[in-house]
Amino acid sequence: MDKLRITGGRALEGAVRISGSKNAALPVMAATLLAPGVHRLRNVPRLRDTQTFARVLELLGAKVAFEGNLLTIDTQGVNSVEAPYELVKTMRASIYVLAPLLARFGRARVSLPGGCAWGPRPVNLHLAGLQSMGAALEIEHGYIVGRDVRLKGATVGFDVVSVGATVQLMLAAVLAEGSTVLENAAIEPDVTVLGEVLVACGARIEGLGTRRLEIHGVSALRPIETSIIPDRIEAATFAAAAAMTGGRIRLEGVRPEHFEASLRKLEEAGCVVERGADAVAVAGPARPRPVNVVTQPYPGFPTDMQAQMIAVCAVASGTSVIEDTIYLDRFTHVQELVRMGAHIELKGNVAVVAGVERLSGAQVMATDLRASASLVLAGLAAEGETVVDRIYHLDRGYEALEKKLGALGARIERVK
Ligand code: EPZ
Repeated sequence: MDKLRITGGRALEGAVRISGSKNAALPVMAATLLAPGVHRLRNVPRLRDTQTFARVLELLGAKVAFEGNLLTIDTQGVNSVEAPYELVKTMRASIYVLAPLLARFGRARVSLPGGCAWGPRPVNLHLAGLQSMGAALEIEHGYIVGRDVRLKGATVGFDVVSVGATVQLMLAAVLAEGSTVLENAAIEPDVTVLGEVLVACGARIEGLGTRRLEIHGVSALRPIETSIIPDRIEAATFAAAAAMTGGRIRLEGVRPEHFEASLRKLEEAGCVVERGADAVAVAGPARPRPVNVVTQPYPGFPTDMQAQMIAVCAVASGTSVIEDTIYLDRFTHVQELVRMGAHIELKGNVAVVAGVERLSGAQVMATDLRASASLVLAGLAAEGETVVDRIYHLDRGYEALEKKLGALGARIERVK
Protein backbone atom coordinates (compact mmCIF):
# COMPACT_ATOMS: atom_id res chain seq x y z
CA MET A 1 0.00 0.00 0.00
CA ASP A 2 2.49 2.64 -1.18
CA LYS A 3 1.47 6.25 -0.69
CA LEU A 4 2.53 9.52 -2.27
CA ARG A 5 3.48 12.46 -0.07
CA ILE A 6 3.19 15.82 -1.88
CA THR A 7 3.97 19.34 -0.67
CA GLY A 8 2.11 21.73 -2.93
CA GLY A 9 2.59 25.27 -4.14
CA ARG A 10 5.42 24.96 -6.68
CA ALA A 11 5.02 26.00 -10.32
CA LEU A 12 6.26 23.04 -12.38
CA GLU A 13 8.94 23.82 -14.96
CA GLY A 14 10.77 21.81 -17.60
CA ALA A 15 10.37 19.01 -20.12
CA VAL A 16 8.87 15.54 -19.69
CA ARG A 17 8.97 12.57 -22.11
CA ILE A 18 5.57 10.92 -22.41
CA SER A 19 5.47 7.12 -22.21
CA GLY A 20 3.80 4.66 -24.56
CA SER A 21 0.02 4.35 -24.29
CA LYS A 22 -1.49 1.72 -21.97
CA ASN A 23 -4.76 1.66 -23.89
CA ALA A 24 -2.95 1.25 -27.22
CA ALA A 25 -0.52 -1.41 -25.93
CA LEU A 26 -3.13 -3.81 -24.47
CA PRO A 27 -5.05 -4.50 -27.75
CA VAL A 28 -1.76 -5.03 -29.62
CA MET A 29 -0.59 -7.46 -26.91
CA ALA A 30 -3.84 -9.41 -27.40
CA ALA A 31 -3.37 -9.41 -31.18
CA THR A 32 -0.09 -11.34 -30.79
CA LEU A 33 -2.19 -14.44 -30.03
CA LEU A 34 -3.58 -14.36 -33.59
CA ALA A 35 -0.20 -15.17 -35.22
CA PRO A 36 2.01 -17.96 -33.79
CA GLY A 37 5.48 -16.38 -33.76
CA VAL A 38 7.84 -13.92 -32.07
CA HIS A 39 6.39 -10.41 -31.80
CA ARG A 40 8.38 -7.28 -30.88
CA LEU A 41 6.59 -4.27 -29.37
CA ARG A 42 8.70 -1.17 -28.64
CA ASN A 43 7.76 1.77 -26.36
CA VAL A 44 5.51 -0.41 -24.15
CA PRO A 45 4.96 1.37 -20.80
CA ARG A 46 6.07 -0.56 -17.69
CA LEU A 47 2.81 -0.48 -15.78
CA ARG A 48 0.83 -2.82 -13.53
CA ASP A 49 -1.67 -3.26 -16.38
CA THR A 50 0.85 -4.20 -19.07
CA GLN A 51 2.50 -6.59 -16.61
CA THR A 52 -0.88 -8.12 -15.76
CA PHE A 53 -1.60 -8.63 -19.47
CA ALA A 54 1.84 -10.19 -19.91
CA ARG A 55 0.93 -12.53 -17.07
CA VAL A 56 -2.31 -13.53 -18.82
CA LEU A 57 -0.34 -14.31 -22.00
CA GLU A 58 2.18 -16.39 -20.02
CA LEU A 59 -0.65 -18.39 -18.45
CA LEU A 60 -1.87 -19.15 -21.96
CA GLY A 61 1.58 -20.51 -22.78
CA ALA A 62 3.30 -17.55 -24.40
CA LYS A 63 6.89 -16.56 -23.57
CA VAL A 64 7.01 -12.88 -22.61
CA ALA A 65 10.08 -10.74 -21.88
CA PHE A 66 10.42 -7.05 -21.05
CA GLU A 67 13.76 -5.36 -21.80
CA GLY A 68 13.28 -1.74 -20.80
CA ASN A 69 10.25 -0.71 -22.88
CA LEU A 70 10.81 -3.42 -25.50
CA LEU A 71 8.34 -6.29 -25.08
CA THR A 72 9.00 -9.58 -26.88
CA ILE A 73 6.10 -12.03 -27.01
CA ASP A 74 6.56 -15.56 -28.41
CA THR A 75 3.11 -17.06 -29.01
CA GLN A 76 4.22 -20.27 -30.76
CA GLY A 77 3.81 -22.29 -27.56
CA VAL A 78 0.34 -21.02 -26.63
CA ASN A 79 -1.56 -24.14 -25.49
CA SER A 80 -4.23 -22.96 -23.06
CA VAL A 81 -7.48 -21.10 -23.71
CA GLU A 82 -8.25 -20.11 -20.13
CA ALA A 83 -7.96 -16.56 -18.68
CA PRO A 84 -8.59 -16.89 -14.94
CA TYR A 85 -10.80 -14.74 -12.71
CA GLU A 86 -7.82 -13.88 -10.47
CA LEU A 87 -6.26 -11.85 -13.29
CA VAL A 88 -9.32 -10.67 -15.20
CA LYS A 89 -10.81 -9.21 -12.02
CA THR A 90 -7.74 -6.97 -11.66
CA MET A 91 -7.90 -5.70 -15.24
CA ARG A 92 -11.03 -5.73 -17.45
CA ALA A 93 -9.02 -5.43 -20.65
CA SER A 94 -7.90 -9.05 -20.13
CA ILE A 95 -11.15 -9.86 -21.95
CA TYR A 96 -9.32 -8.89 -25.16
CA VAL A 97 -7.90 -12.45 -25.30
CA LEU A 98 -11.39 -13.89 -25.94
CA ALA A 99 -11.68 -13.24 -29.70
CA PRO A 100 -8.05 -14.22 -30.54
CA LEU A 101 -8.45 -17.55 -28.68
CA LEU A 102 -11.73 -18.25 -30.47
CA ALA A 103 -10.15 -17.30 -33.80
CA ARG A 104 -7.01 -19.42 -33.31
CA PHE A 105 -8.32 -22.43 -31.36
CA GLY A 106 -12.10 -22.35 -31.85
CA ARG A 107 -12.54 -22.38 -28.08
CA ALA A 108 -11.98 -20.20 -25.01
CA ARG A 109 -12.74 -19.95 -21.31
CA VAL A 110 -12.37 -16.35 -20.18
CA SER A 111 -13.58 -14.97 -16.88
CA LEU A 112 -16.28 -12.34 -17.06
CA PRO A 113 -14.83 -9.07 -15.73
CA GLY A 114 -16.10 -8.22 -12.26
CA GLY A 115 -17.45 -4.93 -10.96
CA CYS A 116 -15.64 -1.61 -11.28
CA ALA A 117 -15.03 1.16 -8.72
CA TRP A 118 -17.43 3.43 -10.46
CA GLY A 119 -20.34 1.23 -11.40
CA PRO A 120 -21.53 -1.07 -14.16
CA ARG A 121 -19.23 -1.73 -17.13
CA PRO A 122 -21.03 -4.45 -19.10
CA VAL A 123 -19.49 -6.45 -21.96
CA ASN A 124 -22.79 -7.28 -23.65
CA LEU A 125 -21.67 -5.63 -26.91
CA HIS A 126 -18.55 -7.82 -27.01
CA LEU A 127 -20.61 -10.99 -26.54
CA ALA A 128 -23.48 -10.02 -28.86
CA GLY A 129 -21.00 -9.11 -31.60
CA LEU A 130 -19.14 -12.42 -31.30
CA GLN A 131 -22.41 -14.32 -31.26
CA SER A 132 -23.51 -12.66 -34.49
CA MET A 133 -20.22 -13.94 -35.95
CA GLY A 134 -21.34 -17.47 -35.11
CA ALA A 135 -19.70 -17.91 -31.69
CA ALA A 136 -22.04 -19.90 -29.45
CA LEU A 137 -21.00 -18.53 -26.05
CA GLU A 138 -22.21 -19.72 -22.65
CA ILE A 139 -21.73 -18.09 -19.26
CA GLU A 140 -20.67 -20.88 -16.89
CA HIS A 141 -19.62 -20.25 -13.28
CA GLY A 142 -18.61 -16.68 -14.08
CA TYR A 143 -16.74 -17.64 -17.23
CA ILE A 144 -17.47 -16.92 -20.89
CA VAL A 145 -17.12 -20.31 -22.57
CA GLY A 146 -16.90 -20.97 -26.30
CA ARG A 147 -16.54 -24.45 -27.87
CA ASP A 148 -16.13 -25.54 -31.52
CA VAL A 149 -16.39 -21.97 -32.74
CA ARG A 150 -15.79 -21.05 -36.39
CA LEU A 151 -16.00 -17.28 -36.70
CA LYS A 152 -17.82 -16.07 -39.80
CA GLY A 153 -18.10 -12.56 -41.22
CA ALA A 154 -21.19 -10.54 -40.18
CA THR A 155 -22.50 -6.99 -40.00
CA VAL A 156 -22.39 -5.65 -36.45
CA GLY A 157 -23.89 -2.27 -35.47
CA PHE A 158 -22.99 -1.04 -31.97
CA ASP A 159 -25.76 0.63 -29.95
CA VAL A 160 -23.18 2.79 -28.21
CA VAL A 161 -19.63 3.63 -29.25
CA SER A 162 -17.40 1.16 -27.41
CA VAL A 163 -13.60 1.03 -27.61
CA GLY A 164 -13.48 -2.45 -26.10
CA ALA A 165 -16.20 -4.01 -28.26
CA THR A 166 -14.69 -2.51 -31.43
CA VAL A 167 -11.28 -3.95 -30.53
CA GLN A 168 -12.82 -7.34 -29.69
CA LEU A 169 -14.67 -7.59 -33.00
CA MET A 170 -11.64 -6.43 -35.03
CA LEU A 171 -9.58 -9.20 -33.41
CA ALA A 172 -12.37 -11.67 -34.23
CA ALA A 173 -12.86 -10.58 -37.84
CA VAL A 174 -9.30 -10.50 -39.25
CA LEU A 175 -9.06 -14.32 -39.46
CA ALA A 176 -12.80 -15.04 -39.82
CA GLU A 177 -14.40 -16.66 -42.86
CA GLY A 178 -15.71 -13.90 -45.15
CA SER A 179 -16.14 -10.19 -44.47
CA THR A 180 -17.30 -8.30 -41.39
CA VAL A 181 -18.72 -4.77 -41.24
CA LEU A 182 -18.57 -2.84 -37.96
CA GLU A 183 -20.91 0.16 -37.79
CA ASN A 184 -20.78 2.94 -35.17
CA ALA A 185 -17.28 1.74 -34.34
CA ALA A 186 -14.99 3.60 -31.94
CA ILE A 187 -12.28 5.72 -33.61
CA GLU A 188 -10.02 6.24 -30.59
CA PRO A 189 -6.34 6.27 -31.68
CA ASP A 190 -5.91 2.92 -29.86
CA VAL A 191 -8.46 1.39 -32.25
CA THR A 192 -7.07 2.93 -35.43
CA VAL A 193 -3.50 2.01 -34.52
CA LEU A 194 -4.53 -1.59 -33.78
CA GLY A 195 -6.01 -1.69 -37.28
CA GLU A 196 -2.80 -0.30 -38.79
CA VAL A 197 -0.71 -2.90 -36.93
CA LEU A 198 -3.01 -5.73 -38.10
CA VAL A 199 -2.87 -4.50 -41.71
CA ALA A 200 0.95 -4.42 -41.46
CA CYS A 201 0.73 -8.10 -40.45
CA GLY A 202 -1.38 -9.04 -43.46
CA ALA A 203 -4.94 -8.22 -42.39
CA ARG A 204 -7.38 -6.57 -44.82
CA ILE A 205 -9.23 -3.67 -43.17
CA GLU A 206 -10.95 -0.70 -44.84
CA GLY A 207 -12.29 2.46 -43.24
CA LEU A 208 -9.78 2.87 -40.41
CA GLY A 209 -10.39 6.15 -38.60
CA THR A 210 -14.09 6.11 -39.60
CA ARG A 211 -17.10 4.70 -37.75
CA ARG A 212 -17.61 2.04 -40.45
CA LEU A 213 -14.95 -0.67 -40.69
CA GLU A 214 -14.93 -3.40 -43.33
CA ILE A 215 -12.70 -6.38 -42.48
CA HIS A 216 -12.07 -9.18 -44.98
CA GLY A 217 -10.89 -12.34 -43.23
CA VAL A 218 -7.51 -13.78 -44.25
CA SER A 219 -6.04 -17.22 -43.54
CA ALA A 220 -2.97 -16.15 -41.54
CA LEU A 221 -1.12 -13.13 -40.12
CA ARG A 222 2.60 -12.40 -39.75
CA PRO A 223 4.19 -11.60 -36.34
CA ILE A 224 4.00 -7.98 -35.17
CA GLU A 225 6.92 -5.53 -35.15
CA THR A 226 5.72 -2.13 -33.97
CA SER A 227 6.21 0.85 -31.66
CA ILE A 228 3.36 1.83 -29.32
CA ILE A 229 1.97 5.37 -29.75
CA PRO A 230 2.46 7.92 -26.96
CA ASP A 231 -0.13 8.05 -24.17
CA ARG A 232 -2.49 10.92 -24.87
CA ILE A 233 -4.10 10.73 -21.40
CA GLU A 234 -0.72 10.88 -19.65
CA ALA A 235 0.19 13.85 -21.88
CA ALA A 236 -3.09 15.65 -21.08
CA THR A 237 -2.60 14.93 -17.37
CA PHE A 238 0.79 16.70 -17.42
CA ALA A 239 -0.78 19.59 -19.36
CA ALA A 240 -3.35 19.85 -16.54
CA ALA A 241 -0.46 19.91 -14.03
CA ALA A 242 0.83 23.07 -15.75
CA ALA A 243 -2.67 24.57 -15.46
CA MET A 244 -2.95 23.62 -11.76
CA THR A 245 0.43 25.03 -10.72
CA GLY A 246 0.82 28.00 -13.09
CA GLY A 247 3.86 26.20 -14.51
CA ARG A 248 5.46 25.78 -17.96
CA ILE A 249 5.81 22.17 -19.14
CA ARG A 250 7.10 20.86 -22.47
CA LEU A 251 5.55 17.49 -23.35
CA GLU A 252 7.96 15.52 -25.53
CA GLY A 253 7.40 12.51 -27.80
CA VAL A 254 3.64 13.15 -28.19
CA ARG A 255 1.03 13.12 -30.99
CA PRO A 256 -0.64 16.52 -30.31
CA GLU A 257 -3.68 15.69 -32.42
CA HIS A 258 -4.49 12.74 -30.12
CA PHE A 259 -5.26 15.00 -27.13
CA GLU A 260 -6.45 18.11 -28.96
CA ALA A 261 -9.83 18.18 -27.14
CA SER A 262 -8.06 18.37 -23.77
CA LEU A 263 -5.66 21.06 -25.00
CA ARG A 264 -8.53 23.16 -26.30
CA LYS A 265 -10.29 22.99 -22.91
CA LEU A 266 -7.08 23.96 -21.11
CA GLU A 267 -6.68 26.93 -23.47
CA GLU A 268 -10.25 27.94 -22.58
CA ALA A 269 -9.12 27.80 -18.93
CA GLY A 270 -6.32 30.25 -19.71
CA CYS A 271 -3.36 28.06 -20.67
CA VAL A 272 -1.05 29.12 -23.48
CA VAL A 273 -0.41 26.09 -25.69
CA GLU A 274 2.27 25.81 -28.40
CA ARG A 275 1.82 22.74 -30.61
CA GLY A 276 4.81 21.26 -32.45
CA ALA A 277 5.13 18.12 -34.59
CA ASP A 278 5.90 15.79 -31.66
CA ALA A 279 6.02 18.18 -28.70
CA VAL A 280 3.61 20.57 -26.97
CA ALA A 281 4.50 23.42 -24.58
CA VAL A 282 1.85 24.34 -22.02
CA ALA A 283 2.04 27.44 -19.82
CA GLY A 284 -0.53 27.63 -17.04
CA PRO A 285 -2.28 30.89 -16.01
CA ALA A 286 -1.85 32.52 -12.59
CA ARG A 287 -5.35 31.12 -11.91
CA PRO A 288 -7.45 28.97 -14.27
CA ARG A 289 -10.71 30.31 -15.67
CA PRO A 290 -13.89 28.19 -15.22
CA VAL A 291 -14.87 25.95 -18.14
CA ASN A 292 -17.79 23.67 -18.98
CA VAL A 293 -17.03 20.15 -20.17
CA VAL A 294 -19.10 17.30 -21.62
CA THR A 295 -17.24 14.03 -22.12
CA GLN A 296 -17.68 12.29 -25.48
CA PRO A 297 -16.17 9.41 -27.45
CA TYR A 298 -13.01 10.41 -29.39
CA PRO A 299 -12.38 12.99 -30.83
CA GLY A 300 -14.54 14.56 -28.09
CA PHE A 301 -13.30 15.34 -24.56
CA PRO A 302 -12.21 12.04 -22.99
CA THR A 303 -13.86 10.66 -19.88
CA ASP A 304 -10.32 9.63 -18.83
CA MET A 305 -9.53 13.34 -18.32
CA GLN A 306 -12.77 14.17 -16.50
CA ALA A 307 -11.33 13.76 -12.97
CA GLN A 308 -8.19 15.74 -13.79
CA MET A 309 -10.30 18.54 -15.27
CA ILE A 310 -12.45 18.68 -12.12
CA ALA A 311 -9.23 19.22 -10.15
CA VAL A 312 -8.27 22.14 -12.45
CA CYS A 313 -11.75 23.66 -12.09
CA ALA A 314 -11.63 23.25 -8.31
CA VAL A 315 -9.17 26.20 -8.20
CA ALA A 316 -10.71 28.22 -11.06
CA SER A 317 -11.97 31.81 -10.74
CA GLY A 318 -15.64 30.86 -11.03
CA THR A 319 -18.07 27.97 -11.48
CA SER A 320 -17.59 25.10 -13.97
CA VAL A 321 -20.07 22.41 -15.01
CA ILE A 322 -18.62 18.99 -15.91
CA GLU A 323 -20.83 16.25 -17.31
CA ASP A 324 -19.69 12.67 -17.93
CA THR A 325 -21.85 11.05 -20.64
CA ILE A 326 -19.71 7.88 -20.92
CA TYR A 327 -19.64 6.77 -17.25
CA LEU A 328 -22.53 8.32 -15.38
CA ASP A 329 -21.11 7.69 -11.93
CA ARG A 330 -17.37 8.07 -12.42
CA PHE A 331 -17.06 10.59 -9.56
CA THR A 332 -15.40 8.72 -6.69
CA HIS A 333 -12.67 11.43 -6.63
CA VAL A 334 -15.17 14.18 -5.76
CA GLN A 335 -15.49 13.42 -2.05
CA GLU A 336 -11.70 13.23 -1.72
CA LEU A 337 -11.31 16.64 -3.43
CA VAL A 338 -13.97 18.05 -1.08
CA ARG A 339 -11.77 16.83 1.79
CA MET A 340 -9.10 19.14 0.33
CA GLY A 341 -11.48 22.10 0.47
CA ALA A 342 -13.04 21.92 -3.00
CA HIS A 343 -16.66 23.05 -3.49
CA ILE A 344 -18.26 20.45 -5.74
CA GLU A 345 -21.91 19.53 -5.97
CA LEU A 346 -22.85 16.32 -7.75
CA LYS A 347 -26.19 16.11 -9.59
CA GLY A 348 -26.39 12.69 -11.20
CA ASN A 349 -23.63 12.61 -13.85
CA VAL A 350 -22.97 16.36 -13.57
CA ALA A 351 -20.44 18.00 -11.23
CA VAL A 352 -20.92 21.70 -10.47
CA VAL A 353 -17.53 23.00 -9.35
CA ALA A 354 -17.31 26.39 -7.61
CA GLY A 355 -13.61 27.25 -7.75
CA VAL A 356 -11.77 28.17 -4.53
CA GLU A 357 -8.69 30.38 -4.12
CA ARG A 358 -6.60 27.55 -2.70
CA LEU A 359 -7.01 23.87 -1.81
CA SER A 360 -5.54 22.60 1.44
CA GLY A 361 -3.38 19.50 1.77
CA ALA A 362 -5.01 16.43 3.36
CA GLN A 363 -4.85 12.65 3.56
CA VAL A 364 -6.87 11.27 0.67
CA MET A 365 -7.53 7.88 -0.88
CA ALA A 366 -7.23 6.88 -4.52
CA THR A 367 -10.15 4.77 -5.80
CA ASP A 368 -9.25 4.27 -9.46
CA LEU A 369 -6.61 5.21 -12.00
CA ARG A 370 -7.78 8.65 -13.17
CA ALA A 371 -9.27 9.59 -9.79
CA SER A 372 -5.80 9.10 -8.29
CA ALA A 373 -4.29 11.37 -10.97
CA SER A 374 -6.75 14.14 -10.03
CA LEU A 375 -5.74 13.83 -6.35
CA VAL A 376 -2.07 14.13 -7.25
CA LEU A 377 -2.83 17.26 -9.31
CA ALA A 378 -4.79 18.74 -6.39
CA GLY A 379 -1.90 17.96 -4.04
CA LEU A 380 0.54 19.79 -6.35
CA ALA A 381 -1.58 22.97 -6.09
CA ALA A 382 -2.66 22.68 -2.45
CA GLU A 383 -1.34 24.48 0.58
CA GLY A 384 0.70 22.17 2.78
CA GLU A 385 1.08 18.42 2.58
CA THR A 386 -1.15 15.87 0.85
CA VAL A 387 -0.82 12.12 1.31
CA VAL A 388 -2.44 10.02 -1.42
CA ASP A 389 -3.14 6.48 -0.28
CA ARG A 390 -3.61 3.32 -2.40
CA ILE A 391 -1.52 4.53 -5.31
CA TYR A 392 -1.46 1.03 -6.77
CA HIS A 393 -4.33 2.49 -8.80
CA LEU A 394 -1.95 5.11 -10.21
CA ASP A 395 0.69 2.49 -11.04
CA ARG A 396 -1.82 0.81 -13.31
CA GLY A 397 -1.58 3.59 -15.86
CA TYR A 398 1.22 6.10 -15.14
CA GLU A 399 4.87 5.11 -15.61
CA ALA A 400 7.18 6.58 -12.90
CA LEU A 401 4.81 9.50 -12.31
CA GLU A 402 6.48 10.80 -9.15
CA LYS A 403 9.93 10.68 -10.79
CA LYS A 404 8.67 12.63 -13.79
CA LEU A 405 6.91 15.21 -11.59
CA GLY A 406 9.97 15.45 -9.30
CA ALA A 407 12.11 16.27 -12.36
CA LEU A 408 9.73 19.17 -13.06
CA GLY A 409 10.30 20.57 -9.56
CA ALA A 410 7.43 18.96 -7.66
CA ARG A 411 8.00 18.09 -4.01
CA ILE A 412 6.71 14.55 -4.18
CA GLU A 413 7.91 11.22 -2.80
CA ARG A 414 6.68 7.65 -2.70
CA VAL A 415 6.29 6.31 0.83
CA LYS A 416 6.70 2.55 0.79
C1 EPZ B 1 -11.81 2.00 -22.72
O1 EPZ B 1 -12.59 1.20 -21.83
C2 EPZ B 1 -10.62 2.49 -21.90
N1 EPZ B 1 -9.89 1.33 -21.41
C3 EPZ B 1 -11.12 3.31 -20.71
O2 EPZ B 1 -9.97 3.87 -20.05
C4 EPZ B 1 -11.96 4.47 -21.21
O3 EPZ B 1 -12.52 5.12 -20.10
C5 EPZ B 1 -13.09 3.94 -22.12
O4 EPZ B 1 -12.55 3.14 -23.18
C6 EPZ B 1 -13.88 5.09 -22.75
O5 EPZ B 1 -13.05 5.92 -23.46
C7 EPZ B 1 -8.98 0.75 -22.22
O6 EPZ B 1 -8.77 1.14 -23.36
C8 EPZ B 1 -8.25 -0.44 -21.68
P1 EPZ B 1 -16.03 1.37 -23.74
P2 EPZ B 1 -13.76 0.27 -22.39
O7 EPZ B 1 -16.35 -0.01 -24.12
O8 EPZ B 1 -13.35 -0.31 -23.67
C9 EPZ B 1 -20.65 0.99 -22.54
C10 EPZ B 1 -8.45 4.28 -18.30
O9 EPZ B 1 -8.62 5.12 -17.40
N2 EPZ B 1 -20.54 -0.42 -22.95
O10 EPZ B 1 -15.63 2.33 -24.79
O11 EPZ B 1 -14.15 -0.65 -21.29
C11 EPZ B 1 -19.84 1.29 -21.28
O12 EPZ B 1 -20.54 0.94 -20.13
C12 EPZ B 1 -9.64 3.40 -18.74
O13 EPZ B 1 -7.40 4.12 -18.92
C13 EPZ B 1 -21.66 -1.22 -22.93
O14 EPZ B 1 -22.75 -0.78 -22.57
O15 EPZ B 1 -14.92 1.37 -22.59
C14 EPZ B 1 -19.57 2.78 -21.41
O16 EPZ B 1 -20.67 3.49 -20.94
C15 EPZ B 1 -10.78 3.44 -17.77
N3 EPZ B 1 -21.53 -2.52 -23.30
C16 EPZ B 1 -19.45 2.95 -22.93
O17 EPZ B 1 -20.04 1.82 -23.54
C17 EPZ B 1 -20.33 -3.06 -23.71
O18 EPZ B 1 -20.25 -4.24 -24.05
C18 EPZ B 1 -18.00 3.07 -23.42
O19 EPZ B 1 -17.27 1.97 -22.92
C19 EPZ B 1 -19.20 -2.22 -23.73
C20 EPZ B 1 -19.32 -0.90 -23.35
